[in-house]
Amino acid sequence: MSVRIADQVAIAAAAQALRAGELVAFPTETVYGLGAVATDAAAVARIFAVKQRPAFDPVIVHVESLDRARRVVARLDGAARRLAERFWPGPLTLVLPRAADIPDIVTAGLPTVGVRLPSHPVAQALIAATDRPIAAPSANPFGYVSPTTAAHVAAQLGDAVPLILDGGACAVGLESTIVGFADGQPTLLRSGAITLEMLEAELGAVRVATDTPLPTAPGQLPRHYAPRTPLTLIDSPAAVAAAERQHAALLATGPVADTDGFAHVERLSNDGDLLVAATRLFAAMRALDAGGFARVYALRVAETGIGRAIMDRLRRASH
Ligand code: TXA
Ligand code: MG
Repeated sequence: MSVRIADQVAIAAAAQALRAGELVAFPTETVYGLGAVATDAAAVARIFAVKQRPAFDPVIVHVESLDRARRVVARLDGAARRLAERFWPGPLTLVLPRAADIPDIVTAGLPTVGVRLPSHPVAQALIAATDRPIAAPSANPFGYVSPTTAAHVAAQLGDAVPLILDGGACAVGLESTIVGFADGQPTLLRSGAITLEMLEAELGAVRVATDTPLPTAPGQLPRHYAPRTPLTLIDSPAAVAAAERQHAALLATGPVADTDGFAHVERLSNDGDLLVAATRLFAAMRALDAGGFARVYALRVAETGIGRAIMDRLRRASH
C-alpha cells in the first residue's frame, strides 16, 4: 500500500492503475471513496470484496462533467436536471434510470444508478485523467464510519488498497445527499450537506424516505455508521448519572454546560456551527471509539439544515 500526496504525477499514476483494473482510494469533498472503473465489473467486484460489502448494496458512480453523467444514465431531465444544474459539482447523488453499459454489480441489479459529480479538484482530475466513470463507495469496511482523511483509509483498508491519494481532510465530512425519483416524485433517500430545505427551495415539496432494512431503500440499513463503543443519544448531560460519567465520553456539536465528571468531553465546534461539527463528526467518532470508554453519550441537535444529516448519522451509530 502507498499513500501519495495527490499531485499531478500521483493522479496520473492512479488513473493508469484504475484503467488497469486496480482499486484506488481518493478524496472527495464528502468522504474518501474506494474507486474502480464503473464499466469494469471485475474491478467493481473487488471493491465489494475489500469492503466486505453485501452484493445487494449498490455503489455510486462518479463523473467529472455533466456530459459524462448523461452517458451513465438513460436520461437526465425534469427535476433531476434542475438539481444537477443547481448543486453539481457538489455533495449530491441522483438516482436515475441507468445506461446500458453500467454493469449489474454497480447497481445491485436495480434499474437505476446513483450518479454524482463531486466538487473536489482531485476527484475531478482523477476521473478526467482516467476518462471513465468511477464507481466508489466510501472507503471503509462495510458497516463502519466513513473515512474523512487518507490516514483513516490507510488504517482500515491499507493492506487491501494498493494506492491511496491524499488530498487532505474532507471539507464536508458527511456522505452525499441522495435523491431518487421513483414515481416521478423527488425523494430524499439519504440526508447530507445539500439539505432538505435547499432541495425544497429548488423543487417545492420533497418526500422523505423512511428507514427500512430492505436494500432497495438505499444505504438505509438502520445500523450503518456504527462505531464499536455503544453510543446513546441524550437531550442533556443531566440524563447521565455521576457514577456513569467517569467511564463515559460526552459528544457535543458545540459549547455545553454540566460536563463535570465525564471521562472526556468532545466538542465538535467552538460555537455550535453545525457545518464545522459535520466536518469533524466521523473523525471524532473514530477517536472516541479508540478511547476505551464504556459508552459515548451524544447530545441531540435540532433536525433542520445539516442537523438532519448529523442526527441521521448519530442515530445509526446508536443502534
Ligand atoms: O458522499 C458520497 O456519496 C461518498 C463519496 C465517496 O462519493 N460515497 C458513498 O458511497 O457514501 P456509499 O456506497 O458508502 O453509499 C452509497 C449509497 C449506498 O448506501 C447505496 O445504497 C445508495 O447510495 N445507492 C447507490 N446506488 C443506488 C441506486 N441505484 N438506488 C438506490 N440507492 C443507491
Ligand atoms: Mg458507505
